[in-house]
Amino acid sequence: MVRALSTNYEDFAGASRPFRAHAELDDLEVEGEIPLELCGTFYRVSHDPYYERDYYEGGAKTTSFDADGSISAFRIEDGKASFKQRYVLTERFLAERKAGRAMFGVMTSPFSHHPCVRSMEDNVANTNIIVHAGKLLALGELGAPYELDPNTMATVGHNPFPGQIPVNGPYTAHPKVDPDTGELVGFGYGLKGAESNDCTVWILDRNGKKTFERPFERVITGFIHDCAITRNYIVLQQMPFRTSFEQLKTKDGHLWTYDEGLPTYFYIVPRDMDKPVRTFHWKNSMPIHTGACWEEGRNIIFDTTVASSNTFPFLRKSSASTGEPKPVTVNYVRFSIDPNAVSEEVADPEILVDLPCEFPRIDERFLTKRSRYTFLDCFNPESMVDPALVFRGLNCLGRFDSETRKLEIMSPGPGVLVQEPCFSPRYPEAPEGDGFLITMIDNVPKLRNEVIIQDTKDFQNIVARIVLPFRASSP
Ligand SMILES: [Fe+2]
Repeated sequence: MVRALSTNYEDFAGASRPFRAHAELDDLEVEGEIPLELCGTFYRVSHDPYYERDYYEGGAKTTSFDADGSISAFRIEDGKASFKQRYVLTERFLAERKAGRAMFGVMTSPFSHHPCVRSMEDNVANTNIIVHAGKLLALGELGAPYELDPNTMATVGHNPFPGQIPVNGPYTAHPKVDPDTGELVGFGYGLKGAESNDCTVWILDRNGKKTFERPFERVITGFIHDCAITRNYIVLQQMPFRTSFEQLKTKDGHLWTYDEGLPTYFYIVPRDMDKPVRTFHWKNSMPIHTGACWEEGRNIIFDTTVASSNTFPFLRKSSASTGEPKPVTVNYVRFSIDPNAVSEEVADPEILVDLPCEFPRIDERFLTKRSRYTFLDCFNPESMVDPALVFRGLNCLGRFDSETRKLEIMSPGPGVLVQEPCFSPRYPEAPEGDGFLITMIDNVPKLRNEVIIQDTKDFQNIVARIVLPFRASSP
């Protein structure tokens, strides 16, 4: 008997309900016209649990992290588009398919898994997809990248850079490609276990060969989700979560607890091994995804979204919290840190976008340099929902101009939710920000997903909607 998937967990419900399919379609319906300059593949990754995540405590402690990675590829050429979707065939996914049910509990917590799979790697490759050294890589923060065939989408293997980064260790989902050198700058934390405060930064050259490795100790355990790079530094931003297996075993406890008594930390890692790794701190908050980053005078300037408190509603806060809970804000801000400063306290950042927003993307040809434009998801100011639920309510696309300090917002329609945008330049030498913004949206009223394309010459105009005749899962 096949059991219906229940929707006991909000992030796998509604528009985010699992898709659970490999699919392929040619000559997709297109409303409008796909610009002929666009030729290539738009890849996206989604959280798409194949089975109900109910192995450990009936799913009561399931989080949105515990979902299988599924990759979509939209191939665009001559004004036409095709679609292919495949699961990443991780060790975990294959084991559960063989069993016909969930066997893994809470990520990185082997005791919560079925005894038969505790020695397997628990990596879902569900967070990001990039290309490096000619390899298409599906990334999850808590495991090494999986390599996919860029055409068939078949899973090739799990060791894309043999001997360069640990095959069974955590690796960030958000490494950065230095556009000048082609190097991949990435890191992994908790290589010695989820309760360990170790962290290592690696740089792989354009051929995937390791040229830099720098381990250091963090102040606390917990998430470092994203980083920023300049010519000479890597900035790692640590959210104030603590990890504890004992907490997970308590009633309502999770492996990760947001600690309101902690600051957020920024680790500045110089590429020059003779210079020390520095640890800076700012007030309790949750820095999430980075945008532009460059060096200016003595300082490192970096932009990031930052929430004033926990925006993972499924993870509880520490009991250190006192008084009435304050409303959560999520803004796009600009920090400035002098890596040689005596004080380790970071000054308040400049608020760039004073509106709930997330998933900033820049013209990535300008990473490590001062850049002007940031594209990002944001809330429609006229239909605000609780910013603490920012990941469930983003419904507009924004373009922030850091010269004029203006934000232009485009709404793709009532009831529509937007996923992470991706910028493609009009041609290789096009000026910064001149090109196309490509975004998958959840057209909830029409029960379908679309990829929308904006020409940045007229940000308000959707020049093409590539229509899926069904709804795929959300990220
Ligand atoms: Fe992310």
